Amino acid sequence: MKPRHILSLADVSVDELKSILRIAEELKADFKKGVRPKRLDGKVLGLIFEKMSLRTRVSFEAGMTHLGGGSMLLEEQHIGLGKRESVPDVSRVLSSMVDCIVFRAKKHTTVEEFAKYSTVPVINALTDKSHPCQALADMLTIKEEFGSFDDVKIAWIGDSNNVAASLVEASAMLGVKIVISSPEGYRFSDAEIAEMTAQAQPGFELEQIADPTEAVRGCNVLYTDVWVSMGQESEEAKRKADFAAYQVNGDLMKAARPDAIFLHCLPARRGLEVTDEVMDSPQSRIVEEASNRMHAQKGLLVWLLEN
Ligand code: CP
Ligand code: NVA
Repeated sequence: MKPRHILSLADVSVDELKSILRIAEELKADFKKGVRPKRLDGKVLGLIFEKMSLRTRVSFEAGMTHLGGGSMLLEEQHIGLGKRESVPDVSRVLSSMVDCIVFRAKKHTTVEEFAKYSTVPVINALTDKSHPCQALADMLTIKEEFGSFDDVKIAWIGDSNNVAASLVEASAMLGVKIVISSPEGYRFSDAEIAEMTAQAQPGFELEQIADPTEAVRGCNVLYTDVWVSMGQESEEAKRKADFAAYQVNGDLMKAARPDAIFLHCLPARRGLEVTDEVMDSPQSRIVEEASNRMHAQKGLLVWLLEN
């Protein structure tokens, strides 16, 4: 049987996405009671990272340990992916020894190639195109805050990047309204929007509003990310200038609904895309969101690997 790879949220149905979130909620409730069911006893997770990480690595490794399994970090310089050994050869060999592979890659196409040869599930842990595990945690955080998705309207402020893409995809699948506010030259194309919204459910609406103050009106989730993603360092000066009007600060938070929360996938560049005032405000949910990475991915791992 072909393994189930999770390279984007398009790889699960709407019902499957809801099941993953439900398992995550159950496991989080257990965890808070001090209970850590060993649902993946003896299973092994391999983690390949071609880029830096704090949250993704720690949340997968800690989560796998809670579930009774083990994990190992395989850094690029140790395995020499594509240099010492070809991507297909690494994939075939590694997948013969572990039960699941988490892969953070510079290029989305590398994860696709890797998955083609893997005999076990491969999970995208961030590429230039998407970050599905982040969106799982984001939706878990939003649901915890508001109880349901019915009255939620998200404003994405900044770059239409990998994190934004998965957030749009999750919003479409869960019927959540979202406004994207990005400067010209940093917006999703029509083709990208069509791909991200292929599984859109009733309630979903997508607007693109260039003016951030206009965009956040009526929104109760304000979300931003860095202006310069990993791998875009050479564009730093231009991006800082292009995104200058897109900072999430106290004034922008005030233009949103009074019950609005602030989210950021982290790491943040304080003083650029977001101010300290917002990061450290009572409206900020950044730590809850980061810790939900672990609960959301435990849900994903159990859904993928149990039985
Ligand atoms: N949000 C996120 O993926 O964080 P890391 O890059 O630290 O894993
Ligand atoms: N957009 C950022 C997200 C980091 C978690 C990046 O790709 O660097």
